[in-house]
Parts: sequence; C-alpha cells; structure tokens
Amino acid sequence: MPERSPSTPVFEGVMWLLFVALLVPAGVVGWVIGHSGKSTHAAGAVSSTATAPAVDPSVASGAHIFVQFACAQCHGPQGHGGVSPYVPALTKVATTLQPAELRTIINHGLGESANPTRPFMPVWGQVISETQVNDLVSYIRAGLPAVPTAEPPTVPTNQGLAV
Ligand code: HEC
Repeated sequence: MPERSPSTPVFEGVMWLLFVALLVPAGVVGWVIGHSGKSTHAAGAVSSTATAPAVDPSVASGAHIFVQFACAQCHGPQGHGGVSPYVPALTKVATTLQPAELRTIINHGLGESANPTRPFMPVWGQVISETQVNDLVSYIRAGLPAVPTAEPPTVPTNQGLAV
C-alpha cells in the first residue's frame, strides 16, 4: 500500500485539471449565452419602445395630471365615467366643449351650488398651474388616450356618495 499512496494525489490532480478544463469553458459559454440573451432583451425593449405609438408630450402630461389630481377618481379611468351617476363621463366633451370652456370648467369648477349633497366639480384654478390646465385640456381634446405610464389606481365601487 505505501507504494500506491503517491498515485492518489496524482490521480486527484488529474481529476482537478479535468474538472477545471471542463468548468472554465462551460462558464465562458454560459456567460456568453447569458450576456447575449440580455442584450437581445435590451434590444427588444428598445425596439418595442421605438414602435409604441407616439403620444404628444402635453397629452401624456395631461394623462398623468388626470390621475394625480383625482380627475380619474371622479370621472373614471380615462374619463369613462361609471363612478357616480352625478359625475359625467368626459369621453364626449372633446366634441361638445371648446378648449376655452374646458379651461373655465377646470379652473372654476361646476355645479357646486346646485345641490350640496352631491359630488360637484371642484375648483382647480388655485391648485394646479396654467400649464397643467392646458395639458389636461390637450389630453381631453385628444380623446383621453391610454398612456402606459399613467395608469390610475382602481376606482372603488359601491362605496356610497362620500367616495
Ligand atoms: C369630486 C369629484 C370630481 C373631481 C375630482 C373632478 N371632477 Fe370634473 N366634474 C365633477 C362633476 C360632479 C361634474 C358635473 C358638474 C355639473 O354638471 O354640475 C364635473 C364636470 C366636469 C367637466 C364638464 C363635463 C360636461 O360634460 O360638461 C369637465 C370637463 C371636468 N369635470 C373635468 C375634470 C378634470 C380635468 C378634473 C381633474 C382636474 C376633474 N374634472 C375632477 C366631479 C369631479
């Protein structure tokens, strides 16, 4: 047995070399595949962004303001209504109201004095800037399009008039 003991480290050494010789190329191949996969995804993401329909910056900004300043909470996502029977949908105002009329309604509110127990259109002129009002008008006039980054939170239903 003593004469065989030197061969064990040699055998182990050979196995290690084999192991390393197989592992290193596998690692390199794996890295290359992983890396090229990543760059393919990145390229895909870039091209899909590039092919997405362009939204006018003012309209996109209006879509964000529509969500941020609770327009969507009363008038529904993208102004589709359905939140309260007392709050109209805004899908038709692009054709029924002129930009100046929209600006006046947003700046000064609407229906406040008619019935204090119902939701009314709040006054926004003191709250948001003129640019923000103009962006909202652009967004409404553009037909309240879906803007991917401006998703409103879900509107609660059957929560009573307080909502
Ligand atoms: C508290 C709920 C509420 C919020 C928030 C709200 N509205 Fe209104 N809005 C109303 C109500 C109610 C009316 C209808 C008023 C009336 O006709 O007496 C209305 C009417 C309007 C109208 C006129 C619609 C028409 O057919 O004549 C426009 C335009 C409008 N809102 C835009 C907005 C925008 C833009 C925002 C966000 C800045 C907003 N609203 C936020 C409740 C709301």
